[in-house]
Amino acid sequence: MNVIVISSSPNTDGLTAACAAAAVEGVLQAGRRAEEIRLNDLQVGMCQACDNGWGTCLQEHECQVEDDFQALHARALAADAYVLVTPVYWGEMSESAKAFMDRLRRCEATRGGESGLFGKPVIAVAAAGDSGNGMITCLLSMERWIEHVRARKFDLIPVNRWSREYKLVAIREAARAMVQEAIER
Ligand SMILES: Cc1cc2nc3c(=O)[nH]c(=O)nc-3n(C[C@H](O)[C@H](O)[C@H](O)COP(=O)(O)O)c2cc1C
Repeated sequence: MNVIVISSSPNTDGLTAACAAAAVEGVLQAGRRAEEIRLNDLQVGMCQACDNGWGTCLQEHECQVEDDFQALHARALAADAYVLVTPVYWGEMSESAKAFMDRLRRCEATRGGESGLFGKPVIAVAAAGDSGNGMITCLLSMERWIEHVRARKFDLIPVNRWSREYKLVAIREAARAMVQEAIER
């Protein structure tokens, strides 16, 4: 079983990183190793809305903008479960998360019931490390993304500076439970 923990902050030691580490620990506790992906270490540009708005994503379910997305897309398809962790920027997911998720959605949502993420469990984490504002609007767009790619919402977890300690426990437990459930299925 292949679990990926995808995070999208430039900081390697902040709240987002702590949330991703908690998820990795939970996966380990369930007896599996997580593959960690830090989107800010990769080159994944924004969707170019090619041609009339749809490029090869519509018919071929591949993105024609060549960068690190193609390899990431393959890794995402090979995964069985996902933890997506983003810092909250302006009440939304970070730019690196949005670039990757937009392009993956175009490729996979257009497959409908054949989506490579169909039925696979996802935990989405929104880490709002400043005012604490915008966690829910961020999770709303992540929830919509999960629905569009036909994955399964295992949990949606908002985290701020004040809830950090107990939410890290919750993230670890959610990841552990998600993997255990997937193993037992
Ligand atoms: C452009 C930008 C916008 C941000 N908007 C918010 C926000 O709406 N709400 C909030 O609580 N924090 C906000 N933050 C803080 C981030 O959520 C986060 O705590 C900070 O970038 C530290 O990142 P880290 O999670 O890697 O520690 C923002 C940060 C940036 C850079």
